[in-house]
Amino acid sequence: MFQAAITGSGVFTPDQSISNDELVVAFNAYADIWNLENAAAIEAGDASVLAHSSSEFIVAASGIESRFVLDKSGVLDPTAMHPWLPERHMDEPGFMAEMGVDACRKALDMSGVDAADVGAVICAASNHERAYPAIAIEIQDMLGIQGFGFDMNVACSSATFGIQAAADMVRSGSIKRALVVNPEICSAHLEWRDRDCHFIFGDVATAVLIERADLAAGPHFLIKSSRCATQFSNNIRNNSGFLRRTRDGHMDDRRDMLFMQNGRKVFKEVLPLVSRHIAQHMEEEGVQAGDLKRLWLHQANKTMNDYIGKKVLGRVPEPGEQPNILQDYANTSSAGSIIAFAKYSEDLKAGDTGLICSFGAGYSVGSVILAKAE
Ligand code: COA
Repeated sequence: MFQAAITGSGVFTPDQSISNDELVVAFNAYADIWNLENAAAIEAGDASVLAHSSSEFIVAASGIESRFVLDKSGVLDPTAMHPWLPERHMDEPGFMAEMGVDACRKALDMSGVDAADVGAVICAASNHERAYPAIAIEIQDMLGIQGFGFDMNVACSSATFGIQAAADMVRSGSIKRALVVNPEICSAHLEWRDRDCHFIFGDVATAVLIERADLAAGPHFLIKSSRCATQFSNNIRNNSGFLRRTRDGHMDDRRDMLFMQNGRKVFKEVLPLVSRHIAQHMEEEGVQAGDLKRLWLHQANKTMNDYIGKKVLGRVPEPGEQPNILQDYANTSSAGSIIAFAKYSEDLKAGDTGLICSFGAGYSVGSVILAKAE
């Protein structure tokens, strides 16, 4: 058995962002138009008035202040309310591959590894822009990687599940190195017309290079162990898929064809699940709360992270111990905990221990215990 390590990480951040204030102006304009168009139904009691959203609510309920997106013009157009990402021609790179390659290149640069020396690409994300060929194989081709690639989807937990899969392959010796890449175009599966969730998501791509520790050329984190768990729930769901055609052949436009959640239930059910999962993982590995120098948590909601941080450490985390990036990026699904890791791990010292944890639809939860190498 070999020791697996994370030797590089990279983040692709889109160049467009939307502040809460911009978002709320667009949503309220949409609501006003909808209310006007449906005035008769509202008057007859057949429809309800769409209420306005507010920046104050968004910050108080989630901690989110802004989000990056691939296209803000469509999202902020009250007559569209979705990103405008024109279909790419077959001889052009797909959107996910393009942003994923950017993140992968940064991870490779950081570790000083040539793409030609990587053995596998796992594209782990909560939605894929097509069924096949796998986005991972397109990324593999664009980077000139030998070996193989495959896509996987465990929603917001995709990155940690991908890290476990890659680390297990490296440990067993079937490959020496793998890129785990998480291109998340959340803006395209969010219902921007739903006031309860229109503020939740943003776009980004992250990547980590998992490598045999004895081959690492620079500073790196040993993957001490990982744990994945799932438990079926309909409380976060997206029914979009290839079976969803209407009788006349069009894709169905029902509300459940985009992200839906019962946010309150998610909040109540996922918190104990995650807290128990981390506690059990730490106990099995003999890691005490006092040993943890950093928590890189899934970035969905600030209150959730505050709760988990306190539960895991047994006290309110000190500033910097549990970094949040959701104020700038919003929820970026599987990429959130990896953005936090990529941006807030360099300062850790040899021997320091940290924990990555992601959680979300499924339900799913994945945790990875890391130690900075001597
Ligand atoms: N602007 C203003 N008010 C809003 C609003 C908005 N955009 N959206 C909802 N409200 C109102 C609601 O109408 C409700 O009003 P009422 O009390 O008069 O009925 C009130 O604010 C509370 O709404 P609620 O949806 O219950 O808010 P919340 O405090 O539960 O926060 C979430 C909502 C989604 C931020 C929160 O539940 C959450 O983060 N849950 C976990 C989500 C998660 O992790 N999901 C994983 C996704 S991968």
